[in-house]
Amino acid sequence: MGGLGLEGRLHSEGPNPRSLLGIEGVPRSEIERLLERGRHYKAVPPNKKLATLAGRSIVNLFFEPSTRTRTSFEIAAKRLGADTIGIQALGTSLSKGESLVDTLNTLAAMNPDIIVMRHAASGAPHFLSRFLSIPMINAGDGRHEHPTQALLDALTILEVKGSLEGLRVAIIGDISHSRVARSNLHLLSKFGADIIACGPATTVSRNLPSLAPGVGLTFDMREAVRDADVIMMLRVQLERQNVEVFPKSEYFRYYGLTLEHMALAKPDAIVLHPGPINRGREISSEVADSQRSMILSQVENGVAIRMAVLEWVCLQ
Ligand code: CP
Repeated sequence: MGGLGLEGRLHSEGPNPRSLLGIEGVPRSEIERLLERGRHYKAVPPNKKLATLAGRSIVNLFFEPSTRTRTSFEIAAKRLGADTIGIQALGTSLSKGESLVDTLNTLAAMNPDIIVMRHAASGAPHFLSRFLSIPMINAGDGRHEHPTQALLDALTILEVKGSLEGLRVAIIGDISHSRVARSNLHLLSKFGADIIACGPATTVSRNLPSLAPGVGLTFDMREAVRDADVIMMLRVQLERQNVEVFPKSEYFRYYGLTLEHMALAKPDAIVLHPGPINRGREISSEVADSQRSMILSQVENGVAIRMAVLEWVCLQ
């Protein structure tokens, strides 16, 4: 974690057990509870303002770009009646040389109820939460975890398929750089899905089956999508690739999802993508805009799930 601005002493006596830092450590029963509350909040009309978190303040601290996660956390908090403070790294004193630790201590001294944080360094929220008494929600840390994304993906799949158990789920793309893949592997494994991972050999570790028992592995996209119930595409994480791990021009040819691939999947197969989508790189426009695409349902469910998570962290 050197070079990340960890100079300084964290003063609080954490860790706070109410933080949501990843899916890995959350029992299936708690995930089921969160999904149930997500379903509950989805049924609440969007214009109805609740008082569930009235008087609470939530800091959204984003050190990486975000459209969906940042906006939906903000909308979720406001729908629950909380006050929100949005902070992006470029607008903070980090750009004037303040360390991450000093920034977090400064924010903690203002006594918010939750800090939602996205950071490019894997483990950054885990490290900080060991010392902060304020609960933290991981909004994506490097290539490690993106827990609320996996929860909203599960809610989206469940709405269509009813159960995760035994579903054949193909996770396709830049697996090794993807926090979305990692959180989904944890969640889907806990619920007994039949998972197959697929991507260029340079982005999918051959050790994956031993790291995630029960997960199949193929480098052949046609094999991955055959008889799939769910096809989960991943964004190519160019920002996390220090070297070119595959030629950009060839990616779509081998790992881009097309209508031909959809014909190999189950007739009622659905397509997920966490966004932002890169048309013509990971997915064709014909698939992204088709009836089988759940991409905008995922975005809608992101608000409901983040309402459930904020409630879970604040009130449990
Ligand atoms: N899925 C996701 O994390 O999107 P954003 O980067 O726009 O938040």
